[in-house]
Amino acid sequence: GGSGTGTAHGKTILLGEHAVVYGSPAIAVPLPRLAARAHVDLDAPAATLTTSLWTGPLGDAPARLAPTLTALRTTLAALRPRDAAALEATAALHVTSDVPHERGLGSSAAVAAAVVRSVAAALRHPLDPDELHELVQASERVAHGSPSGLDARSVVADGPLWFHHGEARLLPVGVDGVLVVADTGVAGDTRSAVAGVRARRDADPAAARALDRLGDLVTAGRDGLAAGDLDAVGSVMDEAHGLLADLTVSSPELDGLTAAARAAGALGAKLTGGGRGGCAVALCADPTTAADVAAAVTAAGATGVWTSPLTPTTADQ
Ligand code: MEV
Repeated sequence: GGSGTGTAHGKTILLGEHAVVYGSPAIAVPLPRLAARAHVDLDAPAATLTTSLWTGPLGDAPARLAPTLTALRTTLAALRPRDAAALEATAALHVTSDVPHERGLGSSAAVAAAVVRSVAAALRHPLDPDELHELVQASERVAHGSPSGLDARSVVADGPLWFHHGEARLLPVGVDGVLVVADTGVAGDTRSAVAGVRARRDADPAAARALDRLGDLVTAGRDGLAAGDLDAVGSVMDEAHGLLADLTVSSPELDGLTAAARAAGALGAKLTGGGRGGCAVALCADPTTAADVAAAVTAAGATGVWTSPLTPTTADQ
């Protein structure tokens, strides 16, 4: 084996988190400025892992790095079934990521995709999108249990993505807009949030109706984007936040950041990702409003703020 590098990026879910778990569509937008990068040398003297969290022999990696190891091992096993163990024994893997952890921004999927791509590059294997997706999903199952695949698709997407039943396609957007992503500073736990929603859905017909309505809002959002009607998309985001709050996946911090964003001129704002911590996303008509919203959410306590175009161009990658 040789050596190779791979990259992927964070994502924010514009509409459809949680409902997507039950078959609704979802819309995600890439955050190209939040990059994950991996480099692997398959001819190293020993198997090592280097990350910002931990560095040491591959076999001693702590449990929280299990998804990263799974990405490496699953890719070696898929692409070189006979030599996988021998290649792993001389694999030095370095991972860096700008995507904050446990914030609903796709950190685990971005790291997994970067690792899978680095291993495929080292083995001179051109990955097709579905092959990449399956390998990232293997890691995501270790990280989150039963992921919908939305994160795995969106961390390698070049533009806003329509995701339905595991399939993804780029979404036509008829207008420029700016997203402001604001971090509560509170770690979210996607696995427990998804389990909490499932328990409510099983127990309460109102929760099942809320999930259905969330799915309908995704379609309304898609139509608004295609028509270039950002006001409509913003209204849909506001309603989605209320429904997600009813499903108990918001938090006082997320409610505070979304309210501050709306008061500062955002067209709409909601939690993004699993919730119960993590981030809020606000939709703004232009960069000036986005700057006002970024200042407002910072004043309201956001610990990190990222501004990203609704439709990233290659200049943003
Ligand atoms: C997490 O980013 C999105 C959820 O819908 C879970 C999933 O899609 O697997 C909450």
